[in-house]
Amino acid sequence: MSNPSIDKLIEGILKECTPTSEEEINLHAMANKVKNKLESCVSEYKLGSKIKEIVFGGSFAKGTWLKNEADIDIFIKFKNEVDYGHFEDYGKLIGMQALKEYSPYLRYADHPYVEAYVDGVKFNIVPCFDVSFGDWKSAADRSPFHTSYVISNLNQEKKNQVRVLKKFLKSLKIYGAEISIEGFSGYVCEVLILKFGSFLSTIHFFSTYCNDNSVIIITKPDHEQEKHKRIFDSFLVILDPIDENRNLGSAISYRSVATLIQSSRKFLVNPGNNYFREEPISRPDNDLKYLLSPFILVIEFKYSDRPSDVIWGQLKKMTRSICKFVESYGFRILKYQCNVHEKEKVCVIALLYESLTISKLSFKIGPEIFRLHDVEKFIEINDRSPLKWLDNDSRTRCLLFREFTNAKDYLEFVLTNKPDLIGIPRGLKNDFFRSFKIYTLDQNPSLDEHIKNTVSELLYTDGRVF
Ligand code: CTP
Repeated sequence: MSNPSIDKLIEGILKECTPTSEEEINLHAMANKVKNKLESCVSEYKLGSKIKEIVFGGSFAKGTWLKNEADIDIFIKFKNEVDYGHFEDYGKLIGMQALKEYSPYLRYADHPYVEAYVDGVKFNIVPCFDVSFGDWKSAADRSPFHTSYVISNLNQEKKNQVRVLKKFLKSLKIYGAEISIEGFSGYVCEVLILKFGSFLSTIHFFSTYCNDNSVIIITKPDHEQEKHKRIFDSFLVILDPIDENRNLGSAISYRSVATLIQSSRKFLVNPGNNYFREEPISRPDNDLKYLLSPFILVIEFKYSDRPSDVIWGQLKKMTRSICKFVESYGFRILKYQCNVHEKEKVCVIALLYESLTISKLSFKIGPEIFRLHDVEKFIEINDRSPLKWLDNDSRTRCLLFREFTNAKDYLEFVLTNKPDLIGIPRGLKNDFFRSFKIYTLDQNPSLDEHIKNTVSELLYTDGRVF
């Protein structure tokens, strides 16, 4: 049912995120200039026989970029017979040489690609193979097929709806497939609009989303949902319309999906411009900070340069390992936040504990009394327990004394003396042990700006979601 106030709001947002024709003309001129440079470079290095063509991709080619926020993706399509090593080398060479006057640099996804800013616009020069449909050789090979599919199926009105959806997700910090966000990619936004027709229908869908009955699938009838749900078994299943063996939802975190579900509900009840504005995370008010500081432990360390997705992946993995490890000792982590501060090359983990101290006493519950061997084993392992008993559920119990009762002392001891007990990714170990610091928030009142930012995120409640 149409709601005039929402319709009017969306109309306003549409104007804000649709590029002007002047912007479109400028971008096309710039994109063609860069494409010509790439083509000249291919001739100069006599690589013409290796390359099928050079094409535009991503949101620029599809006409779904956000006003004043275009990145231009250009794909170099290598002939299928080029071997993988040469494909990577030539891809790097062409991008780096063609754009040498713009200080290009390498980035890494599944394979290396070149990035450069040309007159303030970011260009990604990505090699892929010119494969036939379905015979994917590199992770980028599907992209040109995505581009054609979206161009043939999205009309201008729907492209603009994609833009509104991107803007909504961006303001909630759940837009983007990168590991730091684990959110909804531009392509996912296009697939959602292809499925639901508009921003508002997409929001309606998520506001009532229930994960046991839906698979988002464009190309097959809805009754085939059940089969795909079983195959993928993930929180949100969105089939890639050009490769139905691929679930686009698997890269989206539960947290991002839950944020979309809850903010969709709230938006429909109380729509407003604030759902389309990217606001910085505010500092917690002093009362909250004062109340919670005694429960927060901060770990920080410096890292050596590496691609953003790599350091984020390593830090997230390490944070989960630390939480699991300290919880297995008896501490409870209520919430955590980790952050990579790329400028300062510092990683920060902030942990909100239920309590930074725990009891000296702990106890273990053993097997049921009938399981003879397991009972024997349990008694043997817990030999040093000063108190053992059988409880009314027929299970063995034993009391133990903890060596540490303070969260900081415990973590510091383990990290210094038994670091292998905590799963720190191999590639981070050197950096971590060379520079790590652990402190409670109330021990360290003069925090660097980047630590304050992480703590703010830890203590932030987004009013649009709750
Ligand atoms: N892509 C993909 N699978 C994803 C995300 C992206 O295959 N889960 C591919 C698609 O071919 C897509 C391309 O990568 O067209 C570009 O990535 P995307 O993150 O979707 O960005 P854009 O569409 O370019 O959007 P924008 O630049 O507006 O963020």
